[in-house]
Amino acid sequence: MANSVPKYVAPQPIDLPDRQWPDRMIRKSPVWCSVDLRDGNQALPNPLGPDQKLEYFKLLCDIGFKHIEVAFPSAGRDDFGFTRRLIEQGHIPDDVFIMGLTQCRKHLIDKTFEALAGIPRGIVHAYCATSDLHMQQVFDLSRKQTVDMVSSAVGQIRGLADAMGDSDIRFEFSPEEFTDTDIDFALEICQVAFEQWGKATQDKPMILNLPATVERRPPNHYADMIELFIRKFPSREKVLISLHAHNDQGMAVAATELALQAGGDRVEGTLFGHGERTGNVDIVTLANNLYSRGIDTHLDFSQLNNVAKTVERLTGMPVYYRQPYSGQYVFTAFSGSHQDAIRKGLHRLSEAPDKFGAQWKVPYLHVDPNDLGRQFERLIRINSQSGKGGVAWVLEQDHDIEVPKAMHLELGEAVQKYSDEVGREISSQEVLDIFQKEFVEPEGPFSLIGYWPRPDEANPTVVHGEIRVMVDGEPKTVTADGNGPISAFVHGLEKLGAAGFQVDNYHEQAVGKGADAYAMAYVPLKLPGAGILFGVGKDPNITQAAGRAMIAGRNRMIRQGKIPLGQ
Ligand code: KIV
Ligand code: ZN
Repeated sequence: MANSVPKYVAPQPIDLPDRQWPDRMIRKSPVWCSVDLRDGNQALPNPLGPDQKLEYFKLLCDIGFKHIEVAFPSAGRDDFGFTRRLIEQGHIPDDVFIMGLTQCRKHLIDKTFEALAGIPRGIVHAYCATSDLHMQQVFDLSRKQTVDMVSSAVGQIRGLADAMGDSDIRFEFSPEEFTDTDIDFALEICQVAFEQWGKATQDKPMILNLPATVERRPPNHYADMIELFIRKFPSREKVLISLHAHNDQGMAVAATELALQAGGDRVEGTLFGHGERTGNVDIVTLANNLYSRGIDTHLDFSQLNNVAKTVERLTGMPVYYRQPYSGQYVFTAFSGSHQDAIRKGLHRLSEAPDKFGAQWKVPYLHVDPNDLGRQFERLIRINSQSGKGGVAWVLEQDHDIEVPKAMHLELGEAVQKYSDEVGREISSQEVLDIFQKEFVEPEGPFSLIGYWPRPDEANPTVVHGEIRVMVDGEPKTVTADGNGPISAFVHGLEKLGAAGFQVDNYHEQAVGKGADAYAMAYVPLKLPGAGILFGVGKDPNITQAAGRAMIAGRNRMIRQGKIPLGQ
């Protein structure tokens, strides 16, 4: 069929009918290589200064990166100086290999080794564009000329590395634009680089970094190319196959995951995907994807907010609200049905191992926010889309207030009304304020001074109650009997003119511990023809709390016009 947008041609699929990667799973972590300080830094509107670079370098070490590309040392004074500073001031931990990038040109390679002088261990990374597009349009080089250039560059690198005596110098080669390169040519030039290096062993493998310099193909093509390359490369056990995906089509993470299934051993990328154009693959996302599937990545993102804040400050670029794992909203549910499901899932989390074979299995949350240093109380924001369950969840999680289920609807409506009025997301404190103002201390004519219930001396199933209240600012006292303190209180209210309601299934809760503990009483007042209204009372004493709840409920009824005062 003719291409309907003739300007562009779809990349041809790779001829690999017996591809194995679709049925494989990633079972172990790749070796991670941060290229933040090179690929990331070169793409910043304001590149990092030396002190900022050092701070970033330390952050990368703290996270757990063992391979860190720190500079393009021959590219300028800053990169050269930073490399020297790391070495001379002893900033490189014993188990970390720093890496310097160079083109395959003699004077640049000399300068790179000059920058690395005295380093106990490090990686020299040489690259050369191998796509016909680059060779023909940018460099005017034939394939043969390119191979010759790489061959002599790697020979030079080998000699300079040998001259460094005891230093453990490793070598990485990248055929730039690998995914736009004829794969047989990529194999040929990598083989030449491998042979010229001549020092690769299983213990000290050479790194073959196969970049998707520009994401021109769908992720499955990258995986096919990696699987095919690995099948055809003769000395597989002496090389680490490294992946380096850019994100031009927004699929760098997917491409890298599939390429790992295809056999990749190592991943180059950056925190939050900094890098040229749309950036490099985001290692935060990729590593946490693997972690969420039970793979120990040996990278520590347990304080991801701090990492994000540091990177934001150093790069001057904010992390996007919905950036996986680190965005402000990624553990927030706005819609009521999601909030409700999360709340239920968290309540029943202890059932997950038996039911689903995993310690963590929660609706709408594929990872535990706590693992990333995120807080549960930030899970749910309230807006006009929030449901009743979500509001109750906020009160419970943030304020220890366990509203009974029968009250969720009323509570949700009150919050929704407020949210509609203010027309914005509302905070957890505002939810508490609404609860307090609407259910605990609603305005109204009644307020309780105190309640004295006393069991009858002859018949303990009878309670005599004395209620002292203010009614419209005037103190009043009534006494009434009942078969318990609640019914005595109801009868007392009747005597005060608040007649005709019943109380059933009231719910109480102890909040806090020790001297600061207090009781919450949630009392449904049932008024024939006017439905149910909840009142909530708070008091150190549970009976007083129940009395306060009934007074609050009574005031609410009057306020809502369900009954006139005095009826
Ligand atoms: O994207 C790329 O190809 C690179 C190379 C230097 C590896 O950054
Ligand atoms: Zn790159």
